[in-house]
Order: sequence, then C-alpha cells, then structure tokens
Amino acid sequence: MSALRHSPLSPLGLAISEEAGVLGEIGHEHVFVAVWDRLSPVGADVVALACQQRMAVRSWVDMDHGVAGSLQHLIPGDAFTELRQDVQLLSEMMACLFGVSGVGVRVTALEKPMCPRFHVDRIPARMLCTYGGPGSQWLPADAVTETLLLPGQDQQGCYREDSLEQLQAGQVALFKGDTWRDNHGQGVVHRSPPVTPGQQRLLVTLDI
Ligand SMILES: [Fe+2]
Repeated sequence: MSALRHSPLSPLGLAISEEAGVLGEIGHEHVFVAVWDRLSPVGADVVALACQQRMAVRSWVDMDHGVAGSLQHLIPGDAFTELRQDVQLLSEMMACLFGVSGVGVRVTALEKPMCPRFHVDRIPARMLCTYGGPGSQWLPADAVTETLLLPGQDQQGCYREDSLEQLQAGQVALFKGDTWRDNHGQGVVHRSPPVTPGQQRLLVTLDI
C-alpha cells in the first residue's frame, strides 16, 4: 500500500499537488482522483471532541443563503470554528468547480469503518477529507477485477494489495463517481480504511 506521493498526473488516473487548483483537474478525461495535498487544518483535540459528541451532520447547504450561518447552525460551538471554516471553504470550492448552487454536506465522527467493502458511489462526484485518523482507500482501475464488486463476494484476493492507495489526514480528494457525465460505470472503487480499536476519524464528504 502506498501513501499518495505521485507526480502531478500519474498513470493511476491521479492528479495530486500542494496547490488547491489541482482539484480542477478532475474535469480531464483521464483523471479519476484529484488530491489537494495539505495538512489537516483541524486538530486532534477537535477530532476527539467530535467523536465524543458522536457528530453526525447531514444537510444540503445552499450557497445563496449564507453558508457560514448554515454551518454555525449545523456544527455549533466555539471548539468547531476551524472545522466550520474548512467545511465552508470546501463547500464553496465544490460549488464553484461544478457550477452548482448547493452541496450535500456530511460531517461524521467515526470509530468504525463506515463502508468497509470496496464500492463505487452512484453520484457524479464526491469531495472528501479525513481530518484525523487514516484516510479512505481506493484502487486504480487496472487493479480492479471483474468479480471485486459482485454482491456477497469475498473481496480479499480480488485486487492487488500493492496497488491499494490511501489518502492521508488533511488531504482533500475528489473522486469521480459512477454517474460522471463522460464515464458512466467507471466510478472510483474505494472503501473506508480499516481502523484499529480506539482509533478516531472525522470525515467530511461533499456531494453535488
Ligand atoms: Fe463511497
């Protein structure tokens, strides 16, 4: 398994850079994962507090009706100021990238894998960031066998272990989903990372 450290556009269908603008690369035909490589702006103490509170926020955020106010309502408390500011930034980036007036926001504290099986998302695209703990895992297209995604399939052994990619805490990723306009049925195969007991994660996902 390799941490994400590749050239700006690798054969994996990955574009990665420390510049936020790399997220716009997702529009290219041969890019399936775009990663803004940055450190987490949210501290471990905030992740721990969110886990303690079992944070589970899910809402549609309308860009034209005060994003900051909406997030203040959804994620109240001074302890979460940096988290709100980052979710606002990512929401605005997502809306700008795709020219939409609102995004579906989920902020979830996790102590178990949410989606431990490999799967594809049946949406056009999803932005995700894990603020603390291990990040999501994904497979390049050529590492996916025909049987991997069959219902009930034991997935162990249906992919090359050495091809498994993993996001790092703080990195912002855009995954193409299964209903992306130009490549129906070719969404990025991914899963929640295995976690060890007591390991805490705080995950934000943004959907269009
Ligand atoms: Fe997913």
